[in-house]
Amino acid sequence: MAGEEELFKHLHGGNLERAMEKYGISSEKIIDFSANINPLGFSSKIREAIIKNLDQLSHYPDPECKKAKKEISGYFKIDYENILLGNGSTELIYLIVQTIKPKKALIPVPTFCEYERALNNNNVSINFYKLKEKQEFLVSIDEITPRLAGIDLVFLCNPNNPTGTFLPKKEILNLVKEVQKRKIFLVLDEAFIDLYEEDSLIKEVKNYNYLIILRSLTKFYGLPGLRIGFAASSPKLIKKLDPKLIKKLETQKIPWSVNSLAQIAVREVLRDEKYISKSRSFLLKEKKFLYRELSNIKGLKAYKPSANFIFIKLLKNISSEILQNHLGRKGILIRNCSNFRGLEKGKFIRVAVRTRKENIKLLKELKLILR
Ligand SMILES: Cc1ncc(COP(=O)(O)O)c(C=O)c1O
Repeated sequence: MAGEEELFKHLHGGNLERAMEKYGISSEKIIDFSANINPLGFSSKIREAIIKNLDQLSHYPDPECKKAKKEISGYFKIDYENILLGNGSTELIYLIVQTIKPKKALIPVPTFCEYERALNNNNVSINFYKLKEKQEFLVSIDEITPRLAGIDLVFLCNPNNPTGTFLPKKEILNLVKEVQKRKIFLVLDEAFIDLYEEDSLIKEVKNYNYLIILRSLTKFYGLPGLRIGFAASSPKLIKKLDPKLIKKLETQKIPWSVNSLAQIAVREVLRDEKYISKSRSFLLKEKKFLYRELSNIKGLKAYKPSANFIFIKLLKNISSEILQNHLGRKGILIRNCSNFRGLEKGKFIRVAVRTRKENIKLLKELKLILR
């Protein structure tokens, strides 16, 4: 069925409802390695604040998200005027495409599929730059540059989902300078950069008016259900877009898409230094552990991770779908990467970094089946 196929193309990890239905398991019995969410959960400060502020549900949220923006501005040390909040960074991906109206875009693949979907929804033609397995799927700025002719928007995900590859700041800056020269927009998705905050280009937006950074509070801050992300962009005026880009995006955005409780959560989580540093050191430690242990399993190849997930190639004669279902029946959800453009079907999976106990459970099952 065409509809089912279309649906499959856009299926993401973290779909608990689907998994419960498919494997007949209740949600408490599921360990979800398929979505890359902080396994420590969200800050306890958020729970308290949300309970305290529940009555705010009887008012409209602030459409300008002023307080939350101020928090983001203070925490990330970027100007208030350069920030726009969205209902997850996904809303902003769609909004950017609708607002800029590019004619031709470039996407390195495999990557997060919503870029392609947003571009397709707006009839933008797309050039795909296929990352090479023999180069460990690493994005090469030298290979992007010659592909920029005729392009007016580039999506780049760093660290990249699902491959976990990472380009240091210095290299991305070369691309930023190149697109600035050629007046091409670069949407740099840093949804997974939190473990290496010092490598974020967020503070560079004030220097380059074609750079748009996307950040998400979904992954590292463990808040997929609340839906908060933001864009940071230049304060400068671009001729093609009057008024300034961030203002233009704001005028095109659906009002109230960021709900009151999400706006409150921004303040709470960014002030919870203890939670942030605990999460960072926990995830760095567990990432190292899981990668080392996966690397010892002969039937697979684990790619060196740079975020809270690990990309894996299956070397044994077992497809990613069979493995996914086998583990799914045991309550372990993994991400089958067969619907990522640019990847050989049936060969790749992605697993999130979870708690030690959960990671050991996954390793044990993988060892049994991939021996
Ligand atoms: C690379 C990347 N960017 C953005 C998102 C969307 O995140 P959000 O929950 O903020 O919409 C995802 C979600 O999986 C992602 O993998």
